Amino acid sequence: RKRVRTRSLAQAKAQGTKIVALTAYDAPTAAIFDEAGIDVLLVGDSAANVVLGQPTTLSITLDQMIMLTRAVSSTVQTALVVADLPFGSYEADNATAVASAVRLMKEGGAHAVKLEGGTRMAERIRAITDAGIPVVAHIGYTPQAEHGLGGHVVQGRRGQDAALLDDARAVEAAGAFAVVIEMVPADVASELTAALRIPTIGIGGGAGCDGQILVWQDAFGWNRGRVPSFVRQYANLGEQLLDAAAKYADDVRRGHFPSESESFSR
Ligand code: KIV
Ligand code: NA
Repeated sequence: RKRVRTRSLAQAKAQGTKIVALTAYDAPTAAIFDEAGIDVLLVGDSAANVVLGQPTTLSITLDQMIMLTRAVSSTVQTALVVADLPFGSYEADNATAVASAVRLMKEGGAHAVKLEGGTRMAERIRAITDAGIPVVAHIGYTPQAEHGLGGHVVQGRRGQDAALLDDARAVEAAGAFAVVIEMVPADVASELTAALRIPTIGIGGGAGCDGQILVWQDAFGWNRGRVPSFVRQYANLGEQLLDAAAKYADDVRRGHFPSESESFSR
């Protein structure tokens, strides 16, 4: 397979081929998703939740994001690796935003960066793009703005859809090569997809988007908690790990592990 590039995503939209994206936060998992033919691997700041056990994404740092991005980019052969700019690393001014994006590329080995916000972040998207760094935008529900948005709520309902279209147009005009649309009514996400030349990648955005992304731990059952209603459960890896750990504990306690072949002779 050929390396996925930003222009491959534009071609996918033009040809009506769906773009397949997943999150990834470590080398072995990224290698498996790459082998499975996932087009885009996002090193999401959702690592704060699903890797580091934090209640929101606000606490993860740029240094932590660089470490995770380095792990993912070091094993990927084909997928496009996108890294999230974490909360606090790009909002203040263009120079800070460019410096943070440069670190994700230079130290993390990312191929592109993602940031949250529509019209309000258009100037940052332009500045980062002008530095030669491809940008994915993220509109609709934006987890870094959870406290401002008043919780985990669907966006673009009841007359907010015009503002969402403005956001979509603003990020495209600012130079974003793709946009993630999170927790937006399916009809609205379809309208945005039709209005834009750049591909839309939905998460809780219905089937009309040009592509889909999920947090892999949610989709593959790598946790013990609740998953959002828009997630489909493709596996229950957490159950398998629980089983394996319990069997190991049982074997050790009963003296069944290790056997002779699992031990060294003199
Ligand atoms: O951090 C993340 O996982 C994301 C996706 C949900 C789009 O931003
Ligand atoms: Na994110």
